[in-house]
Amino acid sequence: MDVPEKNKPTRNLALELVRVTEAGALGAGRFMGRGEKEEADAAAVDAMRLILKTIDMDGIIITGEGEKDEAPMLYNGERVGNGEYPDVDVAVDPIDGTRPLAFGRLNAIATVAVAPRGTMFDPGPLVYMDKIVVGPAAKGKIDINAPVVDNLNAVAEARGKHISDVTAVVLDRPRHAKLIEEIRRAGARLRQIPDGDVAAALMTCLPDTGIDILFGIGGTPEGVLAACALQAMGGDIQGKLYAGDSQTLALGKTAGYDFDQVLTMTDLVASDDVFFVATGITDGELLKGVKYFSNSARTESLVVRGLTGTVRWITATHHWDKLHGISSIKY
Ligand code: FBP
Repeated sequence: MDVPEKNKPTRNLALELVRVTEAGALGAGRFMGRGEKEEADAAAVDAMRLILKTIDMDGIIITGEGEKDEAPMLYNGERVGNGEYPDVDVAVDPIDGTRPLAFGRLNAIATVAVAPRGTMFDPGPLVYMDKIVVGPAAKGKIDINAPVVDNLNAVAEARGKHISDVTAVVLDRPRHAKLIEEIRRAGARLRQIPDGDVAAALMTCLPDTGIDILFGIGGTPEGVLAACALQAMGGDIQGKLYAGDSQTLALGKTAGYDFDQVLTMTDLVASDDVFFVATGITDGELLKGVKYFSNSARTESLVVRGLTGTVRWITATHHWDKLHGISSIKY
């Protein structure tokens, strides 16, 4: 029987990309608590690049490591994949939570997103972005230019609860003092996180986490990664590039960036044919971290596909005796 082309099951690239973040997590996980941020980053990057090379895709890293962290590789513009079809944009953060990993704290993840070529927002040298993120119930109800209290009320209404039941999450940074004050004054609950706003953004889409909304300034790569996941999971994000100082403002303006523009989810990734994967490095609310055993290790990953909205949690056991026989990386 001839199946019409549109009804044929298509490839789920995320199921292949999960090997990339698993490898990154296995490599980086060895550095938990060792205080060696650069070494951990290098281990994640080396492992991820090795697996990326095997994947059938012609990828260009639109937003990766480098600019903010001065990290070793997976830099903006780098070609990844084996060069075969499809042509894709790639966003990658080998370790979102380099500090928590280095100091043995919670919530470090390895993450990658892929979308059709030309669909991802390219932040160039601009590393910070103001963000507001919500889950599916409040999609279309947020406005980054509106007062904090209005956004909290919108989420409360969308979720059918009182504002005092709403939990906002914010990166614990001095730059957020006014934002935190506004959240408190509005009467909402507040979670401050030391790092990791990709995982926090995803948590708005997972009701069990109790997180309703994310506010505040974090990384632009993290914003693009989160947008890919939110596209797939039905959430919403708005962003505005943030300069922080006059030099960055001038640099951004010269490069043609508009710091007043509200970047919608579609501006950040203009396709729902997206793939997003994340693997836990250290234990977190979203994902368990890597567990090392005598001859194996276990990872937990979140694997998301935009076209179908399928969200998978994949637990994998990696056997060193077999893996070390075929891999150039000694995890
Ligand atoms: P990295 O581990 O990739 O450096 O990012 C950690 C992180 O907390 C992100 O989740 C967040 O977007 C960004 O740093 C915030 O930047 P900063 O730490 O400079 O405030």
